[in-house]
Amino acid sequence: MKYRVTLIKGDGIGPEVTEATAKILNAGGAPIEWEEALGGLAAVEAHGHPMPAVTLDAIRRNRLGLKGPLATPKGKGYRSANVHLRQSLDLYVGYRPVKSLPGIKTPYENVDIVVLRENTEDLYVGIEHAITPDMVLTLKVSTQHSGERISRWAFEFMRNHGRRSILCCHKAPVVPMADGAFADAFEDVASDYPYIQHGQFAVDALAFELAREPGPFDVLLLQNLYGDILSDLAAGLVGGLGVVPGANIGDRVAVFEAVHGTAPDIAGKGLANPLAVLSSGLLLLEFVGERRIAERIERAVFDVLEEGKHLTGDLGGDAGTARFTDAIIDKL
Ligand code: NAI
Repeated sequence: MKYRVTLIKGDGIGPEVTEATAKILNAGGAPIEWEEALGGLAAVEAHGHPMPAVTLDAIRRNRLGLKGPLATPKGKGYRSANVHLRQSLDLYVGYRPVKSLPGIKTPYENVDIVVLRENTEDLYVGIEHAITPDMVLTLKVSTQHSGERISRWAFEFMRNHGRRSILCCHKAPVVPMADGAFADAFEDVASDYPYIQHGQFAVDALAFELAREPGPFDVLLLQNLYGDILSDLAAGLVGGLGVVPGANIGDRVAVFEAVHGTAPDIAGKGLANPLAVLSSGLLLLEFVGERRIAERIERAVFDVLEEGKHLTGDLGGDAGTARFTDAIIDKL
């Protein structure tokens, strides 16, 4: 059986890193049939929108997508293509596993954190207006429904993946209604899982503690904005944006993506590290139940990282995308 996956190459370094990823996954025997669709600037040119209906339909049909980074034209009235994608397909879980990698030197060697981010509400609903010429109002939306469903997803994740403990991180003392509702929904759902360790944590203290000693943290559940910020902080603990995978998951559809942007400073130069998109591809394989193939490819990646001879510039090496990619394929 082959899985049909919608591939959005994206902008900037997107084509370089997604093509390298597809090459490695194909070489590793991943049973995937790619169907390309447009997103970002190419989609604006062809369809007048950075996340056009035709691309959303392709993902809906295949139920699976793999996406490079997207640029959203500024000042032209478009909302972020990524936010549009998450909201249109109701991909309410932002899933970002952050784990220390072999051969990548960082101040910490024992990071194994999963950041779960509510992906559809909060300030990202984009409701803003001016009250007076010098005062604007931006709405932070938090519904019981969304708090409950992401909490339920999170506790099921804990159970299925044998994780130790989950913390709901927020700022309820300052935002008692929106953050308080999220924390209440979390506690309600937690009562159905008395055998899973859980607690609450202030999001500002979390930032401090993660920078100081991330080792004790396990699974973190956050609202959209806090999750956006803290997941990038977490990426910094294990080697940066070039190495961390991510996924946007809903009840019917899942889109896997790197957490980094289009990296305009190195785009088109053959220097980009494809590891983040590749790792997102491995998450996709695990998601559909092809764990053994994912593990085999991950072993090849770890071997290359441990040897340290063919690393890209962001990892302290002098290799380009092609040499790093070929080194992994040689291991396979
Ligand atoms: P960025 O992630 O593109 O770049 C930040 C720094 O990290 C740059 O120095 C870049 O060279 C480096 N970097 C990022 N990915 C790398 C990789 N795979 N290999 C080696 N180095 C890498 O963030 P920035 O500059 O803030 O954003 C640039 C554009 O990307 C913006 O238009 C933004 O809207 C878009 N963006 C898109 C995202 C997405 O589609 N998921 C996420 C974040 C930003």
